[in-house]
Amino acid sequence: MKTIFSGIQPSGTITLGNYIGAMKQFVELQDEYNCYFCIVDEHAITVPQDRLQLRQNTRSLAALYLASGIDPEKATLFIQSEVPAHAQAGWMLQCVAYIGELERMTQFKDKSAGKEAVTAGLLTYPPLMAADILLYSADLVPVGEDQKQHIELTRDLAERFNKKYNDIFTIPEARIPKVGARIMSLQDPLKKMSKSDANTKGFISMLDTPKQIEKKIKSAVTDSEGIVKYDKANKPGISNLLSIYSILTNQSIQELELAYEGKGYGDFKSDVAEVVVKAIEPVQTRYQELMESSELDDILDRGAEKANLVAGKMVKKMENAMGLGRKRR
Ligand code: TYM
Repeated sequence: MKTIFSGIQPSGTITLGNYIGAMKQFVELQDEYNCYFCIVDEHAITVPQDRLQLRQNTRSLAALYLASGIDPEKATLFIQSEVPAHAQAGWMLQCVAYIGELERMTQFKDKSAGKEAVTAGLLTYPPLMAADILLYSADLVPVGEDQKQHIELTRDLAERFNKKYNDIFTIPEARIPKVGARIMSLQDPLKKMSKSDANTKGFISMLDTPKQIEKKIKSAVTDSEGIVKYDKANKPGISNLLSIYSILTNQSIQELELAYEGKGYGDFKSDVAEVVVKAIEPVQTRYQELMESSELDDILDRGAEKANLVAGKMVKKMENAMGLGRKRR
């Protein structure tokens, strides 16, 4: 059985973009693959975090994974910092990565642009991400489009390590959905929907109320043409809403274009809002139940235990390959 690894940062509310680009894929994959899903809290501290808020976000993200349909009997769900192998392997891979290639990462450039003090962790974040993936010998990494470059770097680092030290890593591949790999901001449809957007009207949180969702979709920026048609270059706002609608209802974009022929944006937006609310509401109900139960801690304990076993073995192999420590008897 092939192995899958993916992670989400607990760095704020999870957005509809994270859900569509990542979580929804995860749920569809867990039946066919050996899956590891991670709450990557060590990635979150590359930018300042409030400690209590981070803890809360970590727990909340774990509950959202499960509420979205991740089944702990099928997939291993765990918190990154509870598996020390990630930090250990991350360090070893930092010693394989070159500063130049890390500085070329677009996410690093975006996040550090105009900032006076940028942490070293922000630069060395991709080797940690590579460690996450390589520790579990993942074949596939389901992610949204924005992570593609990091997966390419992971492949490069794995190949370099295999060649230089010992052939121990599986070379992973990114799995990017055809529709929904890049959900855009509702306020600026040329920018990706992001949880760190200062304008909260730009993103839908998985914990927004139906009223908030309706309001945000109704005020989504579109165009003045009045035709519901997919045209990313000229109609980015409408195209984004069409993608969201299509992926949440399994209807093709063409079917939707046909259904809305002759109808205005008002009707279309109300329907998009209804579709989003319908997708999110059951997740929220289950989320509330989980947040109040002790089930969550048991699941995360078991997940960490399993992940520690697998990742611990790979760390030993890495140390051996690099000549760290003593030869074990
Ligand atoms: P993060 O936490 O920013 O996002 C989690 C996942 O959601 C996807 N995503 C989107 N998809 C579609 N449209 C959007 N607007 C959108 N915004 C986010 C992301 O592509 C991602 O799949 N570095 C990663 C976390 C990570 C990871 C890993 C992922 C750490 N280690 C190992 C895979 C494997 C990140 O910051 O994702």
